[in-house]
Amino acid sequence: PKVVLAYSGGLDTSVIIAWLKENYGYEVIAMTADLGQGEELAPLEEKAIKSGASKIYIEDLRKEFVEEYIWPTLKAGAIYEGKYLLGTSFARPLIAKKLVEIAEKEGAVAVAHGATGKGNDQVRFELGVKALAPHLKVIAPWREWDIRSREDAIDYAEARGIPVPVTKKSIYSRDRNIWHISHEGGELESPANAASYDMLMLTTPPELAPDKPTFVEIGFEQGIPVALNGERLDSVSLLEKLNIIGGANGIGIVDMVENRLVGMKSRGVYETPGGAILVYAHRELELLTLDRATLHYKEQVALRYAELVYDGVWFAPLREALDAFVNSTQRTVTGTVKLKLYKGNIMPAGCTSPYSLYDEELSTFGRDEVYNQADAEGFINLFGLPLKVRALMEKKAGLR
Ligand code: ARG
Ligand code: SIN
Repeated sequence: PKVVLAYSGGLDTSVIIAWLKENYGYEVIAMTADLGQGEELAPLEEKAIKSGASKIYIEDLRKEFVEEYIWPTLKAGAIYEGKYLLGTSFARPLIAKKLVEIAEKEGAVAVAHGATGKGNDQVRFELGVKALAPHLKVIAPWREWDIRSREDAIDYAEARGIPVPVTKKSIYSRDRNIWHISHEGGELESPANAASYDMLMLTTPPELAPDKPTFVEIGFEQGIPVALNGERLDSVSLLEKLNIIGGANGIGIVDMVENRLVGMKSRGVYETPGGAILVYAHRELELLTLDRATLHYKEQVALRYAELVYDGVWFAPLREALDAFVNSTQRTVTGTVKLKLYKGNIMPAGCTSPYSLYDEELSTFGRDEVYNQADAEGFINLFGLPLKVRALMEKKAGLR
């Protein structure tokens, strides 16, 4: 029997290959998703085979990731607990989808992943598999084996001739893709400690960023970013370029304590340089183009959407239904947003849309011909009627 393993090339997933063969007697097929982690993936081929895999699939999923996972979440305005832009969360269902595809192609009986039994990622991988291939078995070695530390894993690998990465392991647990990098562990485990910006990999610390602002202009069509500084770009290039610009200006560093789905709080630092700019720009354009009721209702949807993405409930009817709502709101979210970036800050620098609902005639403090100020009196009388009725009652009943 065969098992398809989500393989990163790191120590843990290398050890998992041998462990699956020993403990399950399965042939192990490795699958590495290129989500824009910026690492050299070519050496993984040899590494996976040396670690005992029978073959490896290296899948370039960058375009699919950006267009089918990141853009919908951006359009929804989903941010978890007010800070986290969900960079790891929405990568997991896509990896699950590819694991399932390869498992079906190979006739595998199981898929396996290297997420621990204490985190969110195990849930996201496995919900994806349940939704797409309900009969497929899932193996999560971290929940079964007695490897407890990096030293255990190295001993296990050395005893079996598995190549152990020579690089000194950083103290942080990291996850990187084209949208973000996350850092957990080390001194971050105490929320009392300030995060050391030495850990940053994509972003210049704001205090070291240029003393002059950088301006960027982002073009959107129906809520989707399509142009940068006047140049039309494909989704992947646009995000890559924006990451460099944002990174250089110290944009998009988030340091937070969050609620994991499995019950505990955890502390993480996230770098989302391009993403933070896109989220800000998209919001600016919505402020210009969405009516009040739609904008406010959409804010409620965004909260729920963020939770759903965080929890890994991606392949689900609710997500599809919310996407339908969001897409309907995005029909007029087309236009250009200019922003000023300066030492970690993002500021508006002008926004235009053919669908702008901003009416200078109406909003001006100067003389206007369209708005009759006398109408406001009747409006306020009726809008305030419940307040007035209550106040009169309270007076009569001696409550005030
Ligand atoms: N706390 C974040 C989340 O749950 C990041 C998880 C990082 N995962 C990892 N395997 N390092 O989405
Ligand atoms: C893990 O536990 O494997 C990483 C962190 C998480 O999934 O939340």
